[in-house]
Amino acid sequence: LYQIFMQHRRGRTELSFLESLYNYLKIAKTFFVLACPGADYDRIFAVCDRFHVPVVVDAAEAMGARYGRKGGVHAGKGAKAAVFSFNGNKIMTSSGGGMPASDDKALIDRARFLSQQARDPVPHYEHTEIGFNYRMSNVLAGIGRGQLAVLDERVQRRRQIFAYYRHALEGVPGIDFMPEAAYGRANRWLSVILILKGVSPW
Ligand SMILES: Cc1ncc(COP(=O)(O)O)c(C=O)c1O
Repeated sequence: LYQIFMQHRRGRTELSFLESLYNYLKIAKTFFVLACPGADYDRIFAVCDRFHVPVVVDAAEAMGARYGRKGGVHAGKGAKAAVFSFNGNKIMTSSGGGMPASDDKALIDRARFLSQQARDPVPHYEHTEIGFNYRMSNVLAGIGRGQLAVLDERVQRRRQIFAYYRHALEGVPGIDFMPEAAYGRANRWLSVILILKGVSPW
């Protein structure tokens, strides 16, 4: 497992980073990318496609974020799979757990099978593969569905909070806010401030 820190500086994925990926992609089986403001998926997908490497997006923080101009698509769409977190600290929660998403039905069926103890599809209890007990309970799913209904309001509110901080701290030397890429809409789950070394008083 190779871990590479890439920069989505000033709201753009660095081209030099994508180029530097080539050596890894020649031998990679899967490319995991973190969904965060500025991640330029079209470019990332295009480079990975060239090497036939499937992309899995860690979209844990990205519920409600969108990618693409004119409203775009949900963050993670277009990847082989995306995984969302419904942990208590996220923009919407089911108190815990999460959700894989994919356009590949076979992949989702396989994930569902493994998450439900890999029980064979027969009337009796038989397990010929090793599975996991990762299923979300129906009670938690009900909470999650209730939260999903107010997701847009949550995003709006988080964006207002971000705008408030930016406005209030405008002009303070040594701090910088993560800009929004022209090709997406951040959910501003977290208001991130960069404190510049040597310039800020802190
Ligand atoms: C980027 C990222 N990946 C993964 C996780 C883990 O998700 P979970 O807490 O649902 O396991 C989190 C946060 O919790 C996260 O922010």
